[in-house]
Amino acid sequence: MKTLHTVAELDDQLSTPTPGVIETMRAIEGDFIVLGAGGKMGPTLSRMIRRGLDEIGQKDRTVTAVSRFSLDEAAHELQRHGVQTLSCDLVDRSAVQALPQAANVIFMAGQKFGTTDAPELTLVMNTLVPAIVAEHFRQSRIVVFSTGCVYPLVDAASAGANEDTPLTPPGEYANSCVGRERVFTHFAKLHGTPALMFRLCYAIDLRYGVLCDVASKVAQGQPVDVTMGAANVIWQGDANARAIQCLAHTSTPPMALNVTGAERVSIRWLAERFGDLLQRKPIIIGEESRSAWLWDATRSYDLFGPPKITLDEMISATSDWQKLGGSTLGKPTHFEVRDGQY
Ligand SMILES: NC(=O)c1ccc[n+]([C@@H]2O[C@H](COP(=O)([O-])OP(=O)(O)OC[C@H]3O[C@@H](n4cnc5c(N)ncnc54)[C@H](OP(=O)(O)O)[C@@H]3O)[C@@H](O)[C@H]2O)c1
Repeated sequence: MKTLHTVAELDDQLSTPTPGVIETMRAIEGDFIVLGAGGKMGPTLSRMIRRGLDEIGQKDRTVTAVSRFSLDEAAHELQRHGVQTLSCDLVDRSAVQALPQAANVIFMAGQKFGTTDAPELTLVMNTLVPAIVAEHFRQSRIVVFSTGCVYPLVDAASAGANEDTPLTPPGEYANSCVGRERVFTHFAKLHGTPALMFRLCYAIDLRYGVLCDVASKVAQGQPVDVTMGAANVIWQGDANARAIQCLAHTSTPPMALNVTGAERVSIRWLAERFGDLLQRKPIIIGEESRSAWLWDATRSYDLFGPPKITLDEMISATSDWQKLGGSTLGKPTHFEVRDGQY
């Protein structure tokens, strides 16, 4: 990956369609709608679809990004890149019922942080909204963004949770994510809607994610907690491409797919590596536990091959970004949390 100097260059990289995305655009018909598109991933994912369609000369197929668009800027930026936008609160059933139909739906809305203070809102967002959406879009194929946190923590020496691991996670947030999958699966079976549960584990770009969190702490001389001894991460561009490709793998009943990077990274090693690259001595606290949230995404590599961007490339790009004083989103992942309380 070439050095990225600006947010515009970064967004361009994250939204570049891969050959697999282009192939998917040719293989499936119809328009696209992305629900919950105003967050960290939705803007570049929506742009990747648009660029893919443009590249194969299918400019008349539409891409609509739906979100509350609490940040107006996100909507304007999408429109500038040929993506239509609609402001909608997905909790509002009648507003959802007024949304246009599309053959291809990617569902990305959800709530994680704030669960401890308002668990009822997390339950509404992660289980009631899926029911409203699944009813309205029952004629579509749907890729449902889920999370690797639907599994329990596993033995740190194991291969990680795979798709057959029972869904018995700790904490109310993670259990609401199990609920999201169950609700979509129920309606998929009821209406024969092809769907897929996209169990994403730690997407990153240079402004957020596990690498950004650890690098920022090392750069600022803040302690890095290594109790969660290791993590899996995937470059957001690779995660976007896989989500789009998954539209061609939806089924009834829905399949689940773990999506993350192939290389597991030790948090202690990562802090030390950033220490070398940023020339700061990392402050390590805690001791590695015997269990961690770790994932085995072999099934996704069998389908799509390994992710394009390697761990080493992500680490170099993150450290270059920090050295250039690049911006961050100020949204820590809280990957250190082990009890599921957010
Ligand atoms: N990024 C990761 O590493 C990761 C890992 C595992 C799972 N996931 C899941 O994957 C999905 C996408 O990830 P992300 O990082 O882009 O998440 P995100 O930053 O939380 O974005 C989701 C967006 O959904 C929109 N939304 C929330 N409530 C809504 C509502 N009531 N109506 C309409 N839109 C609403 C919000 O944008 P507005 O304010 O514009 O409405 C929010 O920014 C999320 O569900 C996330 O939990 C992500």
